[in-house]
Amino acid sequence: MKEQKIKMTARYVDLHEVKTVGDGILVVGGGGREHAIVEKLRASKNVGDIYGAPGNAGMGVIETGLSATDIDGIVSYVDSHAEIKYTVVAPDDPLAMGLVDKLKAAGHRAFGPVKAAAKLEWSKAYAKDFMKKYAIPTAEYGTFADIDAAKEFVKKSAYPLVVKADGLALGKGVVICQNEEEAVAALEDMMRGKKFGAAGDEVVIEQFLTGYEVSLLVFTDGVHYSLMPTSCDHKRAFDGDKGLNTGGMGAYSPCPIFTAAQLEYTAKNIVEPTIKALEEEGSPFTGVLYFGLMVAGERDIKVLEYNARFGDPETQSVLPLLESDLYEIMQATTDGTLDKLDICWSDKKSINVVLASGGYPLQYKKGCNISGLNTVDNDVNVYFAGVKRDEQGGLATNGGRVLCVQAASDDFATARKKVYDNIAKIKFDDCFYRKDIGAKL
Ligand code: AMP
Ligand code: GLY
Repeated sequence: MKEQKIKMTARYVDLHEVKTVGDGILVVGGGGREHAIVEKLRASKNVGDIYGAPGNAGMGVIETGLSATDIDGIVSYVDSHAEIKYTVVAPDDPLAMGLVDKLKAAGHRAFGPVKAAAKLEWSKAYAKDFMKKYAIPTAEYGTFADIDAAKEFVKKSAYPLVVKADGLALGKGVVICQNEEEAVAALEDMMRGKKFGAAGDEVVIEQFLTGYEVSLLVFTDGVHYSLMPTSCDHKRAFDGDKGLNTGGMGAYSPCPIFTAAQLEYTAKNIVEPTIKALEEEGSPFTGVLYFGLMVAGERDIKVLEYNARFGDPETQSVLPLLESDLYEIMQATTDGTLDKLDICWSDKKSINVVLASGGYPLQYKKGCNISGLNTVDNDVNVYFAGVKRDEQGGLATNGGRVLCVQAASDDFATARKKVYDNIAKIKFDDCFYRKDIGAKL
């Protein structure tokens, strides 16, 4: 089958011939994180055409028209496209829906955990009980499926405390409560008001932790693991960590205040016990395991959350530092051979800043023309998220987080200047972005 395909370099869209060598890869997802994954896969000599489910207009993939949660559609697409040798499942929802299980059952190879292993992300109550059982450091907590019992608990608690919906809630299911009134309101919203649907049928109520947050992403084949450079996300919409929580407005990597000794401590006391425990539970984890950490001291490091996947936007800072072949690493996680690889990372400093549509994370406009992409420097990456092709063949906004501009350099100050200098060249109506990503570094 001959398909016309768009190739997107970071700077412009053009048409190019279908590649005939290398494995076809299907990437599930269509945001900035997936674009960063696609760029690294494209650099592998063993990768041929890359398909997106759905992908986006800026990623330069063959857009299948399938949504990331069309599980049966994706499996039958892979069934009927023999050139697709590997499927990379990036977002949380399809992992929680068992896409990897279904692909494997149909005889296909895939990157990412099976549903039972991904439960560390899709059930916070399960994750907390898991950590308790295996003595992995985390905040004190209780889990409740009964609202009256939950209200009783918050009456007797110290404040602040944190109320979390058990299931997936687009990163919005966490409420920090300063007093009992706020806690009761959060419980009412989640458990009776169904603010997050079934995700709020059960809640975790947790001790509030202080410190700073570090994201640690780890490749694992279920037995062996390999740490990626640490990173730091910025979840709030506005400078100074003000405004609403978003999907993430920027990140940097590595996290310079997190020391090598702390990393080693985390590997021994958090990463290794987690991977081993998952194996003991009968659901070994393959893919990328994300540890959201709260750091309060040299050896006071606790797990805030697990994610069963690459983080967004951390990935857009971390993956550009990878010097080894991403496709080879992914396959090693599937084959259980991660220990055979020597994975190399650049020691450069990387920063990314998200350009969002005004109003995000609430209401925002779509369809605004994006200009200036051709003037971006060659050593700066632009990763596309909420974009579509407009009638003139250019790119237009199509989501809250539109693009993500990333650069790396020997020092953070240079990388940061590069990012912000290049952002100034990119225009779309109502664009907003944080000006303080990496400002304190
Ligand atoms: P989670 O999805 O569980 O990581 O929560 C999202 C965000 O809420 C985290 O990145 C933290 O900023 C905050 N958070 C979650 N749990 C706690 C906690 N126990 N103490 C303080 N902040 C928390
Ligand atoms: N950056 C946090 C996440 O991906 O959930």
